[in-house]
This record gives sequence, C-alpha cells and structure tokens, in this order.
Amino acid sequence: MACHSFCIGVRMRTIVLMGFMGAGKSTIGKRLAAAMNCEFIDTDNYIEKEQGRKISDIFEKDGEAAFREMETDLLKRLQKRDDAFVLSLGGGMPVREENRRLLRNLGCVVYLKTSKEEIIRRVSGDVNRPLLQGGGLEEKVTALMNAREMIYVETAHKEVITDGKSVEELVVEIQKNV
Ligand code: S3P
Repeated sequence: MACHSFCIGVRMRTIVLMGFMGAGKSTIGKRLAAAMNCEFIDTDNYIEKEQGRKISDIFEKDGEAAFREMETDLLKRLQKRDDAFVLSLGGGMPVREENRRLLRNLGCVVYLKTSKEEIIRRVSGDVNRPLLQGGGLEEKVTALMNAREMIYVETAHKEVITDGKSVEELVVEIQKNV
C-alpha cells in the first residue's frame, strides 16, 4: 500500500519531517512510516551508510560544506523516485535555498516545532551532533534556532507542535494533517 496523502489540496505521497536537532524527526518518522506501511528514510543515516562513517567524522575531516553537498545530492536523487515514503531530515537541511525547493517538491513538508527548553533538555549530553559540541549549549541552540525558525516556517506546508505529546499522538496528528 502506498501512503497517499493530501496537502493543501494537492495530492502528495511523500511526507517530509523537518525540524531542529532533537525535535524527534527520526523517532516519529520511523513510527509514521510503519503506520502508513511505507518506506522510512532518514537523511543522516542514509549519508552515514553511504559514506561508511559518522556525520561527526564527515564534519571533522571534510567540513560542514562537504556534508551540505551530500545532503543536496541525496535530495536530488530522491526526486527521481516515484514511490511514497517518509523522509526525516537532518535539522540543517532546509538552510540551503536549493534544498527548500527540492524538499517542497518531494512531498508534504511537516515542521515539527519544539520549544527551545525541550530541545536543550533532549540534546544535552549528546556527543554526536558536531554543531552543538564544545560547550555553551544554550547559546548555540538559541543562535541556530533564531537563524532557522523563519526558514522552517517558510519551507513547511504544515506545522505540528511536539511539546507535551507522545510519539503515538504525533503520528496520529501528522496523518490527520497531511
Ligand atoms: C544538523 C543536524 C543533524 C545532522 C548534522 C547537522 C543541523 O541532524 O544532520 O549534525 O545542522 O541541524 P539531526 O537534526 O537529526 O540531529
């Protein structure tokens, strides 16, 4: 069964989950894809598998710009698919303008909106996200969120607040909304 869905009146099949680091994109995406009986793709995992190394290693050895190229390259390849899937993004994916167009073309883009307090709670102690390492977590999250909030809002077809909701509640809410 394909996961056909509707978004702003246009028939769309793929659901794209976008949001800040720690918003729950991967966890929710996995469960959403299972509920919709379609494939789940996580861009970070996909890139790590293809590269045979962790994102932190890509950032360290090749730099962030190289990682951003990999993200855009993956999005371009995904455009060629004609099946439906659930796609969870790395939090910085929509920062590139080119990616924003590619994402909206791919399917219904859902912004998982999470408060700063909740994000800080979830990512504190995390050692796998290169942009949040080296101390000053609150300042880093604040600066990135301020820089990205409008980008997320403008890229999204739909917005879903995640604070205080369980994964199952969010899966149901997303399915109702797209
Ligand atoms: C990034 C988010 C990460 C990962 C990379 C950069 C970002 O993914 O792609 O560390 O720029 O926000 P998650 O959002 O899954 O943590």
